[in-house]
Amino acid sequence: MKRVRVFAPASIANLGCGFDIMGLALDEVGDILEMTLTEGDGITIRNDSGVPLPDDIEQNVVTPVIRKFFEMTGNKAHVDVVIQQKIYPGSGIGSSSASSAAAAFGMNALYGEPLSEEDVVVCAMEGENLASGGYHADNAAPAVMGGIVLIRGYEPLDVIKLPVPGNFYCSVIHPKLVVSTKEARSILPKQIPLHDAIAQWGNVGGLVAGLCTGDIALVGRAMKDAVAEPYRKAFIPGFDELREKILETGALAMNIAGSGPSVFALAKESHVAKRAGVVLEEHFKALGIGYECYVVKVSNKGTRMIV
Ligand code: HSE
Repeated sequence: MKRVRVFAPASIANLGCGFDIMGLALDEVGDILEMTLTEGDGITIRNDSGVPLPDDIEQNVVTPVIRKFFEMTGNKAHVDVVIQQKIYPGSGIGSSSASSAAAAFGMNALYGEPLSEEDVVVCAMEGENLASGGYHADNAAPAVMGGIVLIRGYEPLDVIKLPVPGNFYCSVIHPKLVVSTKEARSILPKQIPLHDAIAQWGNVGGLVAGLCTGDIALVGRAMKDAVAEPYRKAFIPGFDELREKILETGALAMNIAGSGPSVFALAKESHVAKRAGVVLEEHFKALGIGYECYVVKVSNKGTRMIV
């Protein structure tokens, strides 16, 4: 019998302009999975996290990830999974990818690391596909690898870790509204007008340049989304007014985290991030919507073993 206990961090996908191609890992918030390998075949999953999850293992993102690992490596065993800690599903801070990353990393650790880090991401993407109906890695890659990650291409997967500027602070609020990623993807138009595409790729270039040169003001200017936000902001009450109030605090940008409903503000000083966090809280408090708010730094640590 072999056992591992794995932590995988929450993550913020898109970073404004980088729909499906940019994401970052957060400090401390995340999922914890205990995985045990025994002889035989099959998967059992117990949810001890207190967060409601489907009982059917076919609906749990962990299941396709484990199957993909076996398919990629040609191994077979019985895997028992205990979900000990869980980010709330539908929060927009990478709940499904935290479990998927933990499961892929845990399987790889149990077998002595036959897969490269990139292949662990490929494996984790199976969970994302179940949860959202698409193979995107902008939560899974930073969750596995840590830091800020660019997905340059998907066929084949080409992931690039970008430098994390020292003074990069985020306040993230998770309002207690559920927005399913599947729905938030289904409302997006399939064609982008050229004018919006030009704005978007200019911003993606600016975002990467700002991260590489440590120019946080440029990062803030580039965190704008002409592709998904115009449609998705309808899920977040008072989104435009909230952004105005956030920018007044001195924060550099405010965007939807992943497919929402979480929202994050970027700041280059910790006290500004804290102030923005208070404004985020006040906004949802005034609307009578419960929330969890975190002021965090980007974490260079991705998924890891814990005791
Ligand atoms: N890039 C994905 C989306 C992230 O925006 O749909 C989902 O969290």
